[in-house]
Amino acid sequence: MEKITDAAKDRARRMKWWHEARFGMFVHWGLYAQLGRHEWAMNRERIPVAEYERLAATWKPKPRPAREWARLAKQAGMKYMVMTTKHHEGFCLWDTKMTDYNAAKCGPGRDLVAEYVEACREFGLRIGFYYSLMDWHHPDGARCAKDEKARRRFLDYTQGLVRELVTNYGKIDILWYDVAWPLSSPELWESAKMNAMVRRIQPDIIINNRSLLEEDFGTPEEHINPEQAGRAWEACMTFNGSWGWQPAPPEDWHSVRSVLGMLRQVTAEGGNLLLNIGPHPDGSVPKEAVERLTAVGKWTAKNGEALYGKVERLAGRFEWMPTGQFTLKGKTAYYWCTRWPGTELTLGGIKGKLRAASLLADGRPVAFTQEKDRVILRGLPKNSPDKIAGVTVLKLEFATPPRQVLGAGCVVI
Ligand code: GLC
Repeated sequence: MEKITDAAKDRARRMKWWHEARFGMFVHWGLYAQLGRHEWAMNRERIPVAEYERLAATWKPKPRPAREWARLAKQAGMKYMVMTTKHHEGFCLWDTKMTDYNAAKCGPGRDLVAEYVEACREFGLRIGFYYSLMDWHHPDGARCAKDEKARRRFLDYTQGLVRELVTNYGKIDILWYDVAWPLSSPELWESAKMNAMVRRIQPDIIINNRSLLEEDFGTPEEHINPEQAGRAWEACMTFNGSWGWQPAPPEDWHSVRSVLGMLRQVTAEGGNLLLNIGPHPDGSVPKEAVERLTAVGKWTAKNGEALYGKVERLAGRFEWMPTGQFTLKGKTAYYWCTRWPGTELTLGGIKGKLRAASLLADGRPVAFTQEKDRVILRGLPKNSPDKIAGVTVLKLEFATPPRQVLGAGCVVI
């Protein structure tokens, strides 16, 4: 059982915007972008610290790339961003006083976190900081597991860095911890103390569950499964299998349809989608991501009602259909039709009286009949009206919150 802390008490208030936002951009950017072989290259290739460190001098990003990310995020219909302020490699993207291994004192010669924060504000996006507890660069980053003095030093370092992040940039909306290696408990990490410090400075902040405390939300990674017991959750997904920049063939990138599929899936269970981009070393966004997110943005601009805002968790309320799947808000169901059946679309097993049907994107009314539990939408265009991705949403307004009951049997005559 979670202890009822102040943070837990006002969770609903703090998280209202987040629950309605649905869609955010994850940005993995660091020295590893220069290698272009995944952000775990240092570990996977056993690159010695001294050799890896050289990447700090050669990193020369172009001016203010964060504006490109934020513009793209906004245009895609994303409402918030989360950027890696320090990944496992240990390089700090901001002007920290705790170490010289940082973007202001090395190659970039400036505070990349400050640029990111400014860009988010310019485009009206909420601001999240990713912070990796695991640190492959700090001399105590591994030693802290076996040596008490090293642990004290490393915790002071960690808490100092986190304190700077939540102190120096005004209001921060999300703190997104990652990988609590090598210490095995929140007590050893002093997570409760650290998070209490964060909340004293940022009373509205939302904290994820990776400091080994449950905190505000769960973080399923590379899969979309709701958290249990009604807990808030956000699925974080790579675009192409790597978080950091790594070239990949076009077919390894999620398609526009696949991104929309993920959005439907998170919406259906009241979660969020944090979709990653791994910018090039200079900060520009890979063209595959730009193309897809631009199309996703055209789609969300027309169909946003089906995903943003307060939604119901379906939790088995609807069954599988060959032509599409549902999301639900109160008495209104949204049928995301991904395989267009032609001029008639039939939904069986519907419990609830249908009052009105329309095409969400342009509001065109759709004629229908409802006999018993069978709804037939009639006079539809021959081909899917959605020209962006072939995902047409039908808005179905019922007299009461609808359900669908089919089971495996057929009607007995
Ligand atoms: C994993 C990886 C890390 C990535 C993170 C994103 O924990 O170690 O590289 O940043 O997932 O969720």
